[in-house]
Amino acid sequence: MAATEQEDHPAGYVRNTWYPAGWSRDVTDRPVQRQILGEMVALYRGEAGGVFALEDSCPHRLTPLSMGRVRGSALECGYHGLTFNGTGQCVRIPGQPHIPGNARVRSYPVAEKMGLIWIWMGDPALANPADIYDLPQFSDPEWSSAEGDALHIACNYLNLADNLCDPAHVSFVHLSTLGTPAGEDIPVQTEARGDDHLVTWRWIIDSPAIPLFQKFGNFTGHVDRWHYYHYHAPSIAVIDFGSAATGTGAPEGKRDDCIQIYACHFITPVDEDNCIDHWLHVKNFKADDDTNRRLSDQFRIAFNEDKEILEAIHRNEKEPRKQRPLRIAIDAAPIRMRRMVGRMIEAEQAPVSIASIG
Ligand SMILES: [Fe+2]
Repeated sequence: MAATEQEDHPAGYVRNTWYPAGWSRDVTDRPVQRQILGEMVALYRGEAGGVFALEDSCPHRLTPLSMGRVRGSALECGYHGLTFNGTGQCVRIPGQPHIPGNARVRSYPVAEKMGLIWIWMGDPALANPADIYDLPQFSDPEWSSAEGDALHIACNYLNLADNLCDPAHVSFVHLSTLGTPAGEDIPVQTEARGDDHLVTWRWIIDSPAIPLFQKFGNFTGHVDRWHYYHYHAPSIAVIDFGSAATGTGAPEGKRDDCIQIYACHFITPVDEDNCIDHWLHVKNFKADDDTNRRLSDQFRIAFNEDKEILEAIHRNEKEPRKQRPLRIAIDAAPIRMRRMVGRMIEAEQAPVSIASIG
């Protein structure tokens, strides 16, 4: 058998975790359809403000419920008016008083945090909103943040996760924004911190500021800059990057006078061939709307460069391959990332032994 993309990706998805389902700003009392882990979900905001997620298919004629209307905290099918409450139970069938026991759809736990709707696609009994990823600086008044886009990328979400465990590509892909050739030969380091957190980093000492920081910083000379890529399996990546004037002690931890940005990527696996990157940035300086917009424009340029490459790779991966992919030193983190996800999937799918119950 020719080697294919599927050999590289762990089969299936981690289900017992919180995934981003969309920006809070986009979920209103007009229902929307989202595909997550291959499943169609109707997302809507009830009239009291709470968000709900239901299986997007009426059990009567399979009409997508996202084509219907919000009624209080319930969703009314747009075809014959069957109405489902936030738990998925049918509460009304027009023209008949009897509601059969199987008149229900699946509902999914949801919660809002960091401007996003988060959804739990696994066992609802295990869903705890306190487990949703949190970046403390997001709510720190000394820092400021700006929401970006929901960038659709036609690739498997783990290939985007690859890209977000990979400081090395920045020196080649993002030369107009996030990188310079000065980093090309600097080795990358990586370490696991627990079962679901992988950190990959490198420092580039005494080199020119990257174009982004030439625009938004006041650096007159060389800088020491860092990239720490924090991957939280299976689909969150937060990149801590910044710069300080060379000689001010940043590598030793003195970062009093620096620019620091957390570029957050919250990935929705849509299906095996598509994902959505919800990105936002959090930075250690205040900014007006215009500065935030210009900063977002720079990130938008960079992330579209990633999109172009990842989609081209995905197309190539669909072709039969005659040999195993070449692996080089910088692949240590992506390989560990996939193993991490694979272990999480295996742990969820492992049969529960009688001994562990008793
Ligand atoms: Fe990139």
